[in-house]
Amino acid sequence: MSIFIGSTPNTTEEDLNAAKGILEGTVSVTGSINELKTIFQNEYNEKSVYFFNRGRDAMYFLFQNLNLQPDDEVILQGFTCIAVLAPILWSKCKPVFVDIKRDTFNMDLEKMREKISDKTRAIVVQHTFGNIANMSRVREIVDQENSKRNDSNDIFILEDCAHILDFENKQIGKYSDAFFFSFAQDKSISSTQGSALVINHMHFLSGDLDKKYEEVEELSTKEALYNAKYVLCWDKIKKNYFKKILLPKITVGKALLLWYRFWGVIKKQASSDTVDFDGIHKMSNVQARLLLTQLKHLSAFNENRKKIADVYGRNETLLRYPLLVENPVEIKQRLREIGVISGNWYTTPVFPITWDKLECLGYRVGECSEVEFCSKHIINLPTNIEVNEDKAKEIKEIIDKYAKVI
Ligand SMILES: Cc1ncc(COP(=O)(O)O)c(C=O)c1O
Repeated sequence: MSIFIGSTPNTTEEDLNAAKGILEGTVSVTGSINELKTIFQNEYNEKSVYFFNRGRDAMYFLFQNLNLQPDDEVILQGFTCIAVLAPILWSKCKPVFVDIKRDTFNMDLEKMREKISDKTRAIVVQHTFGNIANMSRVREIVDQENSKRNDSNDIFILEDCAHILDFENKQIGKYSDAFFFSFAQDKSISSTQGSALVINHMHFLSGDLDKKYEEVEELSTKEALYNAKYVLCWDKIKKNYFKKILLPKITVGKALLLWYRFWGVIKKQASSDTVDFDGIHKMSNVQARLLLTQLKHLSAFNENRKKIADVYGRNETLLRYPLLVENPVEIKQRLREIGVISGNWYTTPVFPITWDKLECLGYRVGECSEVEFCSKHIINLPTNIEVNEDKAKEIKEIIDKYAKVI
């Protein structure tokens, strides 16, 4: 089977059976959110946990309850995803971009300190590709700054764990005021769409958060079931993606993809990459059921990521293995020829916003030189469970032979 870094790369036989069972009504989803909540509360010391349809929904919910004012500043790194920028813009705040360090693709913390102003109200810190950011240093910098302010103006630290879910790593979530995970189709574990928000420090938030969460809209049954259908459709697409029909450019898988999109059974990924506010929703029991099945395999997934990353060059739990090369287009094509669809995180400073549209969303081209350098040279290699050691070695051979590594 071909390898797709971005489309349900964690699917196991058990996930397919769960999705089928949910759609046929033989697998009950009742109570799944509560089951999931108990697991996360046990892992994170009984903290408040809320589940949403997407990571960006969780961020927006949080920002709403932080009482951010128009023109308050929220700091984030460049070399990120539209999902991080969108809720800042939805909240009418001003995004302030910080450059990254080339070796980790994470925020340069000394540059972050320089960007803090009287208007800074929140900082979003990302663990890019699963590289853990130095959160204790972030906490130190923010505590120093907060000691000069009155409590109502304190800076809030939001830890973006969209690229890592690892209950064994006790650094995750330790230093921030709140943290969230994404369970989108290409994350550590997936419910097609989904997220969890964990709050460490409630005193920042106004009102009764449980009540506010209750008021968040539910997905309709059709929208909830979409998440189960997606898993099955992508499984069919992937199994047939490189099977040729008629013309060499048309394959069974590509035809299926077009067919599903035509009938709206799966959405184009780009349609979820908008900055227009499109509402926020709670996670459904369908998604929670899919996630509970995935959770059983989390340790195996993470072990595999570490093992495969080791073949490429670093023994770390990386969601995707990043590499800076002079010839990213050529390498992506060469990998395609061995059935591997590699990744694009992040070929623009706010992916997938094209360079010409960045300025109107608050990113000034030229402001973060390391971000822009990395965007022009990045490729991501797959580390997910679809990749075994032999395939990883084959991928590594392509890299060794053709990549002009920087
Ligand atoms: C850095 C980062 N944060 C957050 C997200 C959350 O995404 P979503 O809203 O699709 O769950 C993503 C998605 O790719 C991401 O890359």
